[in-house]
Amino acid sequence: MMDWTDRHCRYFHRLLSPNAYLYTEMVTTNALIYGDKDRFLRFDASEHPIALQLGGNDPKDMTICAEMAQDYNYDSVDINCGCPSDRVQSGAFGACLMNEPKTVAACVKEMGKAVDIPVTLKCRIGIDDSEDFDFLDRFVSINAEAGCRIFIIHARKAWLKGLSPKENREIPPLKYDIVQQIKDKYPELHISLNGGIKDVQAVSDHLKDFDGVMVGREAYQNPLFLHALEKLLYPDTSDIDIEAILTKMANYADEQKKQYGTPLKSISRHMIGLFSGTRGAKHWRRQIAERAHADDAKGQLLLDIYDEIKAKNR
Ligand SMILES: Cc1cc2nc3c(=O)[nH]c(=O)nc-3n(C[C@H](O)[C@H](O)[C@H](O)COP(=O)(O)O)c2cc1C
Repeated sequence: MMDWTDRHCRYFHRLLSPNAYLYTEMVTTNALIYGDKDRFLRFDASEHPIALQLGGNDPKDMTICAEMAQDYNYDSVDINCGCPSDRVQSGAFGACLMNEPKTVAACVKEMGKAVDIPVTLKCRIGIDDSEDFDFLDRFVSINAEAGCRIFIIHARKAWLKGLSPKENREIPPLKYDIVQQIKDKYPELHISLNGGIKDVQAVSDHLKDFDGVMVGREAYQNPLFLHALEKLLYPDTSDIDIEAILTKMANYADEQKKQYGTPLKSISRHMIGLFSGTRGAKHWRRQIAERAHADDAKGQLLLDIYDEIKAKNR
């Protein structure tokens, strides 16, 4: 998720969930080909399994970037066909690519020929006035024919005009049944369901019907959700040790500062929701917001604030 699932966020999420499949933010092909690719691509080995998500539409460029993904040891490379933002539309990629299934298929085919890692697609159920099932069916069938085996489907249409990206994650109704029809028609494909999934029971229920479930906002805003899911899916998971996680994050933050000059706030901002729904959530949020911004803030601050919460709860 853009601006959210950077490598610091993923490092943190991995501590909470050893088994989740993590995704990068969408990275455009231009950023990788003409920019500082190492800045966009490097990640910590603990983040495996991890997918690089690409934004682009040119088979040649997408192939170059898929090769970069493989060289950097990503576990899969995903094509974004779901983002409706104006900026992305002006580059003719993201959700508007759902109108161009053959262009996407050309990317899938070329990328698939060049790399051994899976090439996957994340899309919506449709865009604008598309007919729900037939439109998605055509998109999936053309791309499955081109070699895509894994589809992550956000069960909402995207409206390309008139709604902001945020509204496009809230206003178009969720239609899980359309994704279910796709799964029924293509049992051999790996279909992951995405959109509006907020509790562990829902994940467990959807996993009876789908091959995977992708959780976006709930995982970010309430990171302990990831641990709850881990416990549900892997019952041997031990209880969470917040102190151990904060110690690791504190060491990580100090190391990142030393190596790259990364300020604590760039890391702690992803941890704001850690105590969400528990006593101490407000204190944590406020103290992180106020104290982690200082230039000289060190990782130890995370543990200090946690000590304050423990003292308050005593
Ligand atoms: C801040 C933010 C950034 C996002 N960036 C991306 C992105 O880069 N690529 C993508 O495929 N989806 C992106 N999404 C959409 C999510 O992946 C997901 O499809 C959507 O939020 C619905 O799932 P949820 O209800 O579990 O959050 C983003 C969502 C948010 C909130």
